[in-house]
Amino acid sequence: MNTPTIKTGQVPMRHYLQFKDLSAEEYDYLLGRATLIKKRFKNYEKYTPLYDRTLAMIFEKASTRTRVSFEAGMYQMGGSVVNLTSGDSQLGRAEPIEDSARVISRMVDVVMIRTFEHTKIEAFAAHSRVPVINGLTNEYHPCQILADVFTYIEHRGSIRGKVVAWVGDGNNMANTWLQAADVLGFTLHVSTPSGYEIDAKVAGVSNQACVKVFDNPMDACRGAHLVTTDVWTSMGYEAENEARQKAFADWRVDRDMLAVAQPDVLFMHCLPAHRGEEVDADVIDGPHSVVWDEAENRMHVQKALMEYLLLGRIG
Ligand code: CP
Ligand code: NVA
Repeated sequence: MNTPTIKTGQVPMRHYLQFKDLSAEEYDYLLGRATLIKKRFKNYEKYTPLYDRTLAMIFEKASTRTRVSFEAGMYQMGGSVVNLTSGDSQLGRAEPIEDSARVISRMVDVVMIRTFEHTKIEAFAAHSRVPVINGLTNEYHPCQILADVFTYIEHRGSIRGKVVAWVGDGNNMANTWLQAADVLGFTLHVSTPSGYEIDAKVAGVSNQACVKVFDNPMDACRGAHLVTTDVWTSMGYEAENEARQKAFADWRVDRDMLAVAQPDVLFMHCLPAHRGEEVDADVIDGPHSVVWDEAENRMHVQKALMEYLLLGRIG
């Protein structure tokens, strides 16, 4: 019987499957590293601490940002990347996820997975010898919220004590924002159509003090420092699209919603966006929007995350 060993040397193995997997103190450290790593990238300074490491990416759903940010980020840090999809690997031909984890994690140093049910990534992680990063599941999208928090801090300073308004579906992004509010100490105002509420059990946050629920999205946006939304129909829910178009019609972020927020409110969207559905064009393309910084920052924070999971604290 082979005993799994950890190739990361002195660094204890950690997975990043949910936002709550790291503490506020670790986020302080990580976001500080992301700032430094971003600065080096902007100055064309070579920084290749992962020169001997390989990242495997497994995509069971489509992606632009996650794919490019992880792949470019790993190459910039000196490492290599292997990209797998269900269609071009044995994953799509029913090889058990546990067996895939055992095999893939013997050959690479870190794995990023985008899949459907969160239980799938948990099963992979339970049989992996190396850190596993969640690149989106039906339930959570922690790398995106990591980038969003970093973007907020870059533009406005600390997010502690602030109000973030979530307008739209109680989906993977909403669940993860709720975890972030709990871990980092801000308040999440949530407004979803009836039937699409956040499931507190799935979100995994028992602290009721960090969330306030509103029937009317305007009320959720009142006084907010950040207003954010997402598609009405997430990947995997396409069969519900027609019903969702009707149910979400009043949950389109528009100028009136930003007008009742703080004067210097920021607007974020994880993208891809549908102008005229969940957000009006004059909001996403307007002066409060920081969506392009938000998208770019995926790469910088994920480089910091991979550095942390593989090398531990630097210095
Ligand atoms: N925001 C995000 O995860 O984008 P992709 O689906 O393009 O990866
Ligand atoms: N909630 C969306 C996010 C896409 C990045 C989805 O899961 O499709």
